[in-house]
Amino acid sequence: PLVSMKEMLEKGKENGYAVGQFNINNLEYIQAILQAAEEEKSPVILGVSEGAGKYMGGFNVVVAMVKSLMESYGTTVPVAIHLDHGSSFQKCAEAIHAGFTSVMIDASHSPIEENIATTQKVVELAHIHGVSVEAEVGTVGGEEDGVIGGIQYADKDECKRLVSEAGIDCLAPALGSVHGPYEGEPNLGFAEMEEILNLVQVPLVLHGGTGIPLKDVQKAISLGTAKINVNTENQMAQAEAVRNVLNAKPNLYDPRKYLGPGSEAIKETVKGKMRDFGSSQQA
Ligand code: G3H
Ligand code: ZN
Repeated sequence: PLVSMKEMLEKGKENGYAVGQFNINNLEYIQAILQAAEEEKSPVILGVSEGAGKYMGGFNVVVAMVKSLMESYGTTVPVAIHLDHGSSFQKCAEAIHAGFTSVMIDASHSPIEENIATTQKVVELAHIHGVSVEAEVGTVGGEEDGVIGGIQYADKDECKRLVSEAGIDCLAPALGSVHGPYEGEPNLGFAEMEEILNLVQVPLVLHGGTGIPLKDVQKAISLGTAKINVNTENQMAQAEAVRNVLNAKPNLYDPRKYLGPGSEAIKETVKGKMRDFGSSQQA
């Protein structure tokens, strides 16, 4: 069923696993991720950035594709459609009205007062609709949808304020993670993560899941991380598979014959993450 993230993340936090957010870019991503979740018996979050939503034809199209595929697959595991890095109250409202079951309001670039005020508005609207809300403090490194930022660690008092004053369902404290591949090993702030966990009662979210070693994933989960976002790794796996087929068969033109292997690669990558995150067999 299509649900918000609230219950799946609370269960994860309680039972020591994280639910993966896998970003979708087109029909094939939705197919591959829904199939992976069903085969792994795992709850799953479909992440939709504003750019990807636009690419797919708008939030309404996204919701229609997801609902229709879930129906034809007979999906039994919990699925959330989540706006990733929502840039404004307006964008979050648009997603909620289109039928998203979860939104992230990312006002982390604004001063904390403004971040709290914007997040409060989103929470008020979202909770009326049974939609869950994620918000962020600090800056995740790297690039997303054209916005490039250096790493800035979340301030723990700001985290505490954002959770208690805005009433969000989960918190993404930026603690050294990066969007896109890491240069060398990631250097995550686990001491800060523990402090923040002790200050807030909500599940934590880890952005920039691509390239984080399993030991760090497990450590983060042990410190209250119940949601891990993965995007780039699926894109790389898909692109590599498609490239291999097209290189091997330069005369091939049937999209099913090169996109199919790309989808298989996404599916296998997602299944591996679900096992790493411990969400397999939890639905
Ligand atoms: O919000 C999306 C994630 O943080 C994706 O990060 O592309 O490094 O896996 P990633
Ligand atoms: Zn992110």
